Amino acid sequence: MSRLRIRNCGPLQAELRVQGSKNSSLPCLAAALLHPGTTVLEGVPMIEDVATAIEILRALGAGVWTDEGRITICANDITNTRIPVQYMKKMRSSAVFMGALLARMKNAEAVYPGGCVLGNRPINFHLEGFQRLGCDVAVQEDVIIAKTSGMTGTGIKLPFPSVGATENLMLAAVGAEGTTMIENAAKEPEVIELARFLNRMGLEVSGAGTSKICIRGGQKTHDIHFCMSGDRIAAGTWLLCCMNAGGSLWLDNVPVSWMRSTLSVLEQMGASLRIDGTRLECTAPQKIRAVKHLKTAPYPGFPTDMQSQLLPVLCRADEDSCICETVFSSRFCAVRELVRMGARITVDQEKNLAWVQGGVRLHGADVSAPDLRAGAALVIAAMGAGGDTIIDNFYHIERGYERITDTIRILGGEACWIC
Ligand code: EPU
Repeated sequence: MSRLRIRNCGPLQAELRVQGSKNSSLPCLAAALLHPGTTVLEGVPMIEDVATAIEILRALGAGVWTDEGRITICANDITNTRIPVQYMKKMRSSAVFMGALLARMKNAEAVYPGGCVLGNRPINFHLEGFQRLGCDVAVQEDVIIAKTSGMTGTGIKLPFPSVGATENLMLAAVGAEGTTMIENAAKEPEVIELARFLNRMGLEVSGAGTSKICIRGGQKTHDIHFCMSGDRIAAGTWLLCCMNAGGSLWLDNVPVSWMRSTLSVLEQMGASLRIDGTRLECTAPQKIRAVKHLKTAPYPGFPTDMQSQLLPVLCRADEDSCICETVFSSRFCAVRELVRMGARITVDQEKNLAWVQGGVRLHGADVSAPDLRAGAALVIAAMGAGGDTIIDNFYHIERGYERITDTIRILGGEACWIC
């Protein structure tokens, strides 16, 4: 069943604990393959993408046990180096299992990864990086076969600070002899979290959070117990929900220092924010101020993963707004669905810009989630709209948001599955 009806119940007056980070948990789950012993991860969100990562670990021979947000992985015996097609096609992050497999087993086989369709999403930087480390990479009818008789540390300069490529190459490089330097590396918090995880496991990674990451390969690993940080994108999503529905929201487990650009945009829009450690209170303004011109950018810029969720809120702003997407070639898929709800947004495909007309109140409609974050934008829209909204293909949203129907109810909305 993947159709959810949402009815907005007016201004929020709610408290919510933010789930653990999806995009940090997935590479850390892959990194568990590096250690022939036990890894325990706490605070992992129980979402579809994590379930897929667990299936991949099991298919490769690891034992995995889950208990709410705690996942125990025992990777003593890795018996398989081929990642099953059905899991590769489910999510983008499946690709980072290749780097870990190369480091541990010197072999990795997989088809090209699936995941949200946000325009062209090649993995050429990942594969070229593997080659620089000394792997043979062949592609036979969509199947990537990578193998090595032994990797050697080297310098790798990424053409763009790709998050996935940085993570994948960090994972592979811990299995190389000598030192690898990744230049133009992604600085995203998820890369920092992966580096922390690897260091706690006994490996040597420095520079994460800057554009140069140094990995000294060939170190011994040991058992590790690691706790994931809160999800900065889930936190931002619920803050924007508050902006759209009105009222106020207390969030706990917020990675505040990793959310500066998002929080600054919320303040520009008129939000009143109160921060107390990892707790944050947001009070929505009576009138939302437009965002004249905002560009998404790699961290520490405004995250592309927040762009879709901003659109429904800007519809009710005092003036028109303009958003430019610079990370992905085609990420305005929420627009068509928001237009069904009354939004007046036009997209310039060539310039990758969306013009959002302000002063528009959205109404409920039958819509369909095109991908994870565009789906989250529809939830936000529904929570501030007049009347019922029915969101089809809701499974896209469940890939990234834990117990989302419960969350909608905590926020004061009504959520009910329909056939
Ligand atoms: N790119 C290439 N070649 C590559 C790799 C990337 O051309 O080999 C290009 C992409 O096409 C894109 C740009 O580089 O235009 C950035 O892609 P990146 O590799 O940084 O993205 P990703 O690793 O595929 C992760 C997150 C995304 C998030 C982006 C950007 C995970 C699992 N996914 O994707 O999160 O949007 O970084 O921050 O960590 C989401 O959570 O909804 C999501 C899509």
